[in-house]
Amino acid sequence: MSKTIKRVLISRAEIDQMCRRLGEQITHDYAGKEIILIGVLKGAFIFMSDLARYIGVPCRIDFMSVSSYGSGTRTSGVVRITKDLDTDITGKHIIVVEDIVDTGLTLKHLRELLSTRNPASIALCTAFDKPDRRKVEIMVEYTGLQIPDEFIVGYGLDFDGKYRNLPDVSVLGDDN
Ligand code: IMP
Ligand code: MG
Repeated sequence: MSKTIKRVLISRAEIDQMCRRLGEQITHDYAGKEIILIGVLKGAFIFMSDLARYIGVPCRIDFMSVSSYGSGTRTSGVVRITKDLDTDITGKHIIVVEDIVDTGLTLKHLRELLSTRNPASIALCTAFDKPDRRKVEIMVEYTGLQIPDEFIVGYGLDFDGKYRNLPDVSVLGDDN
C-alpha cells in the first residue's frame, strides 16, 4: 500500500510564528551568554535554519547524526552516533534542536550522552511533539507545537526519505 498526503496540519505561517516565539524565548533565556545550537540530522535541518534567524544571542552551530538501534520498527533507545560534532562542547551552553519528539528515546539518550562531555548547560528544543506516544519521561525545555498521534511529513520530516522539502507540515496516510 502506498502513502499519500492527506491534509495540511500546520501551515507555513503557523510554523513561522512558532519559530519566532521559540527564538525570542531562547534570546531572553540566554541573554549575556553564547550558545551552540546542535541540529540533529537530517530532520532538523530546516527548523534549525529558521530558528537560528530568530535568535539574537551569539551563536555557533553544529550538527550530529544519529541512528537508533532496534529490531524492525521498535526503537531500543540506544542511539549510535553516525556523525559526531565538530565542536568541543565542554563548558559551553548547548541547545539540541530536533524535528519531533515521539517516544522520547532519541532525545533522552542524546541528553545523557552529551552531558558526559560536560557542557555548561544543556537544553532540548523540538519543533513538534507527540505527547501521546511518549515511552520515557523527558524534559524538553523548548517545544514548538504539540500534535496528535499522526504521522507527519514536510518541513524537514520524511517518510522513506521523501517529503522533507514540503514547506507545510502534512499528515501522511494510506492510499485507499
Ligand atoms: P523518538 O526517539 O521516538 O522520539 O524518535 C523521534 C524521531 O522519529 C524523530 O527525530 C523523527 O526522525 C522520527 N519521527 C517520529 N515521528 C515522526 C513523524 O510523524 N514523521 C516523521 N518522522 C517521525
Ligand atoms: Mg529525527
